[in-house]
Amino acid sequence: MKKRVLSLVLGVLMSITFISCGSTSSSPSDSKSESSSSESTASGDTIPIGVISPSSGALSDYGIAVNNAIALAIDEINASGGVLGKQIKATYLDDKHDSAEAVNCYNKLKGDKVVAVIGSVASADTSAIASVAAKDGKLILTPTSTNDAITGLGNSIFRACYTDSHQGEIMATFASKNLKAKTAGILYNTTDEYSTGLKDSFESAGKNSGLEITTTEGYGNGDVDFNTQLTKIASLNPDVLFVPDYYGTDTLIASQARAAGYTGPILGADGWDGVIEATDSGSMEALNNCFFSNHYSSDDTSEKVQNFIKAYKDKYDGKTPNALAALAYDSTYMVKEALEKAGATDDASIVKAMTGMTYEGVTGNIALDENRNPKKGAAIIEIKDGKYTWNSTVE
Ligand code: PHE
Repeated sequence: MKKRVLSLVLGVLMSITFISCGSTSSSPSDSKSESSSSESTASGDTIPIGVISPSSGALSDYGIAVNNAIALAIDEINASGGVLGKQIKATYLDDKHDSAEAVNCYNKLKGDKVVAVIGSVASADTSAIASVAAKDGKLILTPTSTNDAITGLGNSIFRACYTDSHQGEIMATFASKNLKAKTAGILYNTTDEYSTGLKDSFESAGKNSGLEITTTEGYGNGDVDFNTQLTKIASLNPDVLFVPDYYGTDTLIASQARAAGYTGPILGADGWDGVIEATDSGSMEALNNCFFSNHYSSDDTSEKVQNFIKAYKDKYDGKTPNALAALAYDSTYMVKEALEKAGATDDASIVKAMTGMTYEGVTGNIALDENRNPKKGAAIIEIKDGKYTWNSTVE
């Protein structure tokens, strides 16, 4: 009897795992009818690509933006004739910002014989996927994962964004040059690759620019109470406080830091994108005097950026695309270009075509170096009275 119950439970669990990574329910609204197909890459009149993103869970704002932007780019590409005479067809899978789930998603897409995967979003999840995909030689293009180690996992792993050593350095330099800071505190997630990578790069870049790190405090995944660490930080009162995490945690830390009496600038990196949307109006003041590095600014007046913003807004109820959407949009066009250049859909040809690519996108010029990372500038965004405002651009 026990056995039967157990196998029933296991069966249900297995089917949940399968459904969550086999379902397309969290894909962009107009792509809902798409299902994962088992067409082979070489036959049929569509070219299947896979998308992995956290369209539910703690980073769902990111996953949805990425899916929306990819769907927009694919619509544009297909409307203008597709690629290699075929239409691109995407399968969107939800990794829920869970690394084991991300690997399930990858394996599912591999079974569906997608020619390339765009994803995932958070560094920890992309890292897990890349470790597996590198052995397959399957092209993985992460639009947004900045952790340095990811592209080193294999020759088929690329990114459209800059790395954490770059943004950590940008923020340390910004602290010492622009804000004239001499001392810094760091509060970071000791259990997350993105957060630890940024802490390391900020720390080492700080050393080079004469910024003394006077206190480093940590916490773990899922923590919501940072009072002990922030009380200590407030009493030491460093000139700036660096908080490298994602929006849901950043908003908690900012308001608890202000409550603990820390009034100095709080600095972050791209994971701060979305923090305003995650903060209710009563706590918005806590975000004043916060600065973070990002991949693009919607204030950019260039025609390319403004055309993208208009197309995105037209398709998605007037919503302004965030940096993740911009990077995902560029990534889709990079995959298109690789397919065109390859003239084929096998893994080796597509990977070869992506290697060393230069693409002029809405997030700037993306020139992939020999380590499959682009060299790119960054925008520094300041939060003022509930608005993201462009502060400066670092080339
Ligand atoms: N860079 C983040 C990561 O690696 C993801 C991210 C990209 C967040 C862009 C916001 C904007 O996990």
